[in-house]
Amino acid sequence: MYNALNFHDLRRAARSRLPSSIFEYIDRGTEDENSLRDTHQSLACLKITPHVLTAGSIRDTTTTLFGKRYSAPIVVAPTACAGLVWHKGEIALAQAAQASGIPFCAATEAMTSIDDIVRGTSSEHIWFQLYVWENEQLSHELIRRVQALGVQTLVVTIDTPVAPNREYNTRNGMGMPFKISPKLIADVATHPSWLLNVLVKYLMDAGVPRFANYPDEYRTTLIRGGKSPEVHHNSNLSWDLIKTIRDLWKGQLVLKGILHPDDALKAVEHGVDGIIVSNHGSRNLDSAISPIDALDALCAAVKGQMTIIMDSGIRRGSDIFKALALGADAVMIGRGFLYGTALGGKSGAEHTYSLYLDELKITMASAGCATLGDIRQAEISRVGARES
Ligand code: FNR
Ligand code: LAC
Repeated sequence: MYNALNFHDLRRAARSRLPSSIFEYIDRGTEDENSLRDTHQSLACLKITPHVLTAGSIRDTTTTLFGKRYSAPIVVAPTACAGLVWHKGEIALAQAAQASGIPFCAATEAMTSIDDIVRGTSSEHIWFQLYVWENEQLSHELIRRVQALGVQTLVVTIDTPVAPNREYNTRNGMGMPFKISPKLIADVATHPSWLLNVLVKYLMDAGVPRFANYPDEYRTTLIRGGKSPEVHHNSNLSWDLIKTIRDLWKGQLVLKGILHPDDALKAVEHGVDGIIVSNHGSRNLDSAISPIDALDALCAAVKGQMTIIMDSGIRRGSDIFKALALGADAVMIGRGFLYGTALGGKSGAEHTYSLYLDELKITMASAGCATLGDIRQAEISRVGARES
């Protein structure tokens, strides 16, 4: 049904379908985009030494995360704009994840509320990503609301205490609110399929998209009014806040955006169940270490004491293999799923999953691995940098 044979094909197709301001918001990094390049290069520089003559044709990718069984060590990353690549894209992605047997992490800044996402699927495989607001009481209320819906895994993103310096967004008018300019109008008008299938559907349904998880009084649309300071990202994040959230949240608690082993150790001390080793898809700090390069030290510090998930720059099944071989329990993928969703909603996202899964299985077979446990024994070495 889809011609896309890999991440790069999905990306190309999404690029032609989406207004370029939205595509750039998704695709690009920050400042000089060194981190974007380095994160891919760090993955490309890792080499697998295959084992041969290992017989057997079964490649078992199933795994357990936070007590639940999944069909692969892949989690759909939280992204603020799944709802901008497809009408109610979050529901499409959540349904695709459910059909594929993997978790979907819904974002605080989604265009579809967590209530509607849970109604559209089930709470079983849904995780919720929290951005803590300046008004912490409002965040506490959101946490209680999410808990009441039966969601069991809360992912608190802690790597965005300030707005990152994404200059292309400023140039494209992708601030809050969006800056309606002749350039933006031309951008939308020259992408009629997006205009009709996404924007017009919203306009005919509930109107201009808005941050659906925000409290009623702060739920401004993307084109009207700035964000109230009450719901700005909290710029005063501290371990005290994690203590408070740990007391409030009865389920699994995961911190997203850890790269320093000392922070991972503190997370263990605070009763956190898992971490996401992430540089936010190279979107925040342009000089941040690549997560795959940080993994060794983090695993040395906390492996066995909590679940370790890695993300940023996963474009191939072999990238998943490398993260697992270096100690991650699973990976999160952001852009790959957004591009698949942009092409065909639920079925497009399922296609993304099947590409990653097939590539992972091919890598496992070539490396002589039948299970994820075998991947953890695989021999991985680093070679010098090369152009990615
Ligand atoms: C993100 N990411 C993100 N993370 C988060 O914690 N909350 C959010 O709202 C968002 N929003 C968001 C939007 C878009 C368009 C992208 C691409 C990413 C980061 C995301 O969860 C994840 O860390 C990265 O996407 C992983 O890198 P890859 O797989 O995109 O390379
Ligand atoms: C981003 C924010 C929303 O990466 O996390 O765009």
